[in-house]
Amino acid sequence: MNLMLMGLPGAGKGTQAEKIVDKYHVIHISTGDMFREAMAQETPVGLKAKGFIDQGNLVPDSVTNEIVKERLAQSDVFQAGYMLDGFPRNLDQAKALDQINQDLNLNLDAVIDIQVDKNLLIDRLSGRFICRDCGATYHKLNNPTKVAGICDRCGGTDFYQRDDDKPETVKNRLDVNIKMNTPLIDYYQKAGVLHQVNGAQEIDQVFVEIDKILNAIN
Ligand code: AP5
Ligand code: MG
Repeated sequence: MNLMLMGLPGAGKGTQAEKIVDKYHVIHISTGDMFREAMAQETPVGLKAKGFIDQGNLVPDSVTNEIVKERLAQSDVFQAGYMLDGFPRNLDQAKALDQINQDLNLNLDAVIDIQVDKNLLIDRLSGRFICRDCGATYHKLNNPTKVAGICDRCGGTDFYQRDDDKPETVKNRLDVNIKMNTPLIDYYQKAGVLHQVNGAQEIDQVFVEIDKILNAIN
């Protein structure tokens, strides 16, 4: 099963991805996570991406398409299936993914669009914190750790907030992504693979909706 998760910044792609991986064991491929890792290691891709990410802009398609192409060609993807998170983000990337799938003889089975009104997203992003050891995502009010200061998943005690969750950057990230979102939704609707879920519900309830969709296609 090969999937794509789409949704505006803060919609809950990463949060739902953790739950989907636990149940369906697909390979989670987040372009945002790949760029953050590359920036931390100061690789050539990380150095190219940094200026764009710090401003809340999209990294150029040539860079993004290439890292996805390399990742999808790895053997674990063929065994377990992929779950893209945050890619494609515009029509050119969607067309690039079609070409990559064709070249690798893969098929995109479902696109899950997590829909959340933009007014909710600023609060979600400003309250987010992430475990430095395992990457689990939390929220100060909506989804805190069960025991304060200790990661539910790995027991880690070191958490961080993302640099691009600063209020000035968040606004631009939302504007950039809102512009790209509608054409992408139309594209996948026409392709007959689009499923939309209400991402304004509680985290577990959003997963119930996604799980129903995945159950039906798996
Ligand atoms: P990326 O890392 O993908 O960021 P994003 O798209 O802005 O999305 P987020 O990761 O911020 O949100 P999310 O939907 O994963 O929400 P989460 O589950 O964490 O990309 C970062 C940057 O990299 C981009 O800006 C761009 O520069 C670059 N980039 C990446 N992909 C690219 C591409 N394809 N092309 C070009 N550039 C690219 O949840 C958010 C918070 O809300 C958490 O605190 C969580 O606990 C809480 N929460 C989640 N669900 C709920 C719920 N149902 N109710 C209440 N709270 C909830
Ligand atoms: Mg994310």
